[in-house]
Amino acid sequence: MGDGEHGSTVRGWLRNIEVFAGPLPEFLPEHAPADPVRLFLSWLSDAVADGLRDPHAMTLSTVDEAGDPDARVLILKGVDGSGWQFAGHGFSPKGHQLAVHPRAALTFYWPEHGRQVRLRGPVTPGSTEDSAADFLSRSATARAEALLARQSQYLADTAERDQALEKSLALIERQPSLVDSAWTLYTLAPAEVEFWQAARNRVHTRLRYERTGAGWERLLLWS
Ligand SMILES: Cc1cc2nc3c(=O)[nH]c(=O)nc-3n(C[C@H](O)[C@H](O)[C@H](O)COP(=O)(O)O)c2cc1C
Repeated sequence: MGDGEHGSTVRGWLRNIEVFAGPLPEFLPEHAPADPVRLFLSWLSDAVADGLRDPHAMTLSTVDEAGDPDARVLILKGVDGSGWQFAGHGFSPKGHQLAVHPRAALTFYWPEHGRQVRLRGPVTPGSTEDSAADFLSRSATARAEALLARQSQYLADTAERDQALEKSLALIERQPSLVDSAWTLYTLAPAEVEFWQAARNRVHTRLRYERTGAGWERLLLWS
């Protein structure tokens, strides 16, 4: 099969995969609360209540030194008036990118509900205490891996990793309160938060909250 033929087969195959199968919830923007945190928590609660998988997983997008975009999935660690929290290693690529460009975007998608939430804004590293508390809440293996401070570096062979991990786990066993000082709890304080609700008839609803000093303006968007 030539590349063109293969490409058209893949296109047809993709076209036939159903999206927004539903049943989808209704979203009435005129009833949306004044604060996006409230609406976000209500959508997240819906996802949890309906048993959606990994409802607190989100894509974190950053830019590197050259201005090239990068993205990966992370777990949401908290949400409050100060913003949306996530955690990672300061020496990882995302850690370096956030040190150079402390701005990011977060994207959530709950397919069964046809709901997407997009946020953009500045990112600040949390206090040493908050980052340490997050570090200590992680599993021993996750802490042992973080202590190696080698995330996303080339790995020559898995035996080398297993050996290093074993040593790191033994260290944690001897010092259970050991904290990696480069582990960071970050907060993204959104300048804008967009709620996107799919509809079966493809007339999707979009509502963007834009920060205006102390409050938020709510704006409908064309889809
Ligand atoms: C569902 C899921 C949750 C994840 N949660 C985290 C997390 O909370 N923190 C983290 O640093 N990496 C997490 N990862 C791994 C990241 O996606 C990524 O591989 C890693 O952080 C390295 O990214 P970087 O090279 O861009 O720094 C998670 C991956 C998945 C699929």
